[in-house]
Amino acid sequence: MVSISEVKDSQSQQSRTAAHTHIKGLGLNEHGIAKHIEGGFVGQNDAREACGIIVDLIKSKKMSGKAILIAGPPATGKTALALAISQELGPKVPFCPIVGSELYSTEIKKTSALMENFRKAIGLRIKEIKEVYEGEVIELTPEEAENPLGGYGKTISHVIVGLKTAKGTKSLRLDPSIYESIQKERVSIGDVIYIESNTGSVKRVGRSDAYATEFDLEAEEYVPLPKGEVHKKKEIVQDVTLHDLDVANSRPQGGQDVLSMMGQLLKPKKTEITDKLRNEVNKVVSKYIDQGIAELIPGVLFIDEVNMLDMEIFTYLNRALESSIAPIVVLASNRGLTTIKGSGDDTKYAHGVPPDLIDRLLIVKTLNYNLEEIKVIIQKRATLENLSLAPEALEKLSKHGLNTSLRYALQLLTPAGVLSSTNGRNEITLEDIEECELLFLDSNRSTKVLQDNKTFL
Ligand SMILES: Nc1ncnc2c1ncn2[C@@H]1O[C@H](COP(=O)(O)OP(=O)(O)OP(=O)(O)O)[C@@H](O)[C@H]1O
Ligand SMILES: [Mg+2]
Repeated sequence: MVSISEVKDSQSQQSRTAAHTHIKGLGLNEHGIAKHIEGGFVGQNDAREACGIIVDLIKSKKMSGKAILIAGPPATGKTALALAISQELGPKVPFCPIVGSELYSTEIKKTSALMENFRKAIGLRIKEIKEVYEGEVIELTPEEAENPLGGYGKTISHVIVGLKTAKGTKSLRLDPSIYESIQKERVSIGDVIYIESNTGSVKRVGRSDAYATEFDLEAEEYVPLPKGEVHKKKEIVQDVTLHDLDVANSRPQGGQDVLSMMGQLLKPKKTEITDKLRNEVNKVVSKYIDQGIAELIPGVLFIDEVNMLDMEIFTYLNRALESSIAPIVVLASNRGLTTIKGSGDDTKYAHGVPPDLIDRLLIVKTLNYNLEEIKVIIQKRATLENLSLAPEALEKLSKHGLNTSLRYALQLLTPAGVLSSTNGRNEITLEDIEECELLFLDSNRSTKVLQDNKTFL
């Protein structure tokens, strides 16, 4: 007998924990005040409240073209804060996280790479009223005909689709090309679909709830039988980013003949998205916005480790922030005074950012944690990773968090868990932590070893 068992959600979640899995949002109350422990966050209240204000500004669309710098020592939650901002904004607002070094590529210019990410962070919601045929599929019969080019094969001359709504049914005779898109969407009898009458594109909405049975094994989305007529006007909402539009418009558009097809084979796959093309796209977009068809949704571009950027990128960033369509840019840096690549001298700049850009930024600072806060964070991670810690072990780990770094303490947690379970215990003890300390060096100790020995580890 075949046995079928349900996959439990919680199981799959437990087995995948990333560095920031415990972060669920900024954890602010309705007045924007941070609760000390909330949303996965512990402490760092001022920075969280500042980020809360930024979220409000973004939601009220007052932040376009502005930039924020989250600055503070390593492992004080800068990346976690940026992630929480994106969680607060919800899935509809584009959030594009990158690391400073990602902009260097041999294929595209670094400034162009920056612009690409800028445009990935700007969303456009396009609302269109379209003429559609919508209903539950009650008939789907392709009609075959003799192949007009001769031979024995048959071709599909057209397809008959029957659609049903609460008001009535309609039978449509469609072009074979539409039959292909019906097959691509895997439409079968009992699905609710709509077909755009201008373009013939087919969209599967879901399965009609008349077909919902108790014994359903598939994950399906059931939708009610559409109301109204089969042929009607429907508002269709699409979320795209400006970068999506750039890409769609940059595809080499060859003709149908063999020569131009060959040409495409020889051409590099990626055609460059030029400024000219972007301007063209912008023009069309602003026309749509004026006509009320589209709405601009500035999102967030998060650039972590901004000290990796060089002078050239910084000047470009200044300019990009001033353009009429710009997202909110959030930068993060854990550097104090440091030089900037490409500046041509050894001048040290605060956070590794040139002063003229600093001048445009709102700066949010993150502070080091105290012992109590570190304890709670470690405890939270332990719970998430399904580990339990003896009080002395927690104490010891927290001290590491205070004296070396929070990250080192969190890093030790998992191997200590492995040690305790190989020793047949289900609680991490002080000995496990001490053994881990011997096995894994922290950054200070490893530096010291190297300095003392002048050889390798
Ligand atoms: N206030 C906090 N509450 C809960 N967890 C936190 C908090 N701050 C940091 N963490 C966790 O500690 C770890 C290190 O934080 P994070 O990566 O955000 O530091 P960072 O400031 O970005 O460091 P770096 O400068 O090295 O990039 C992460 O796993 C993060 O989720
Ligand atoms: Mg970080």
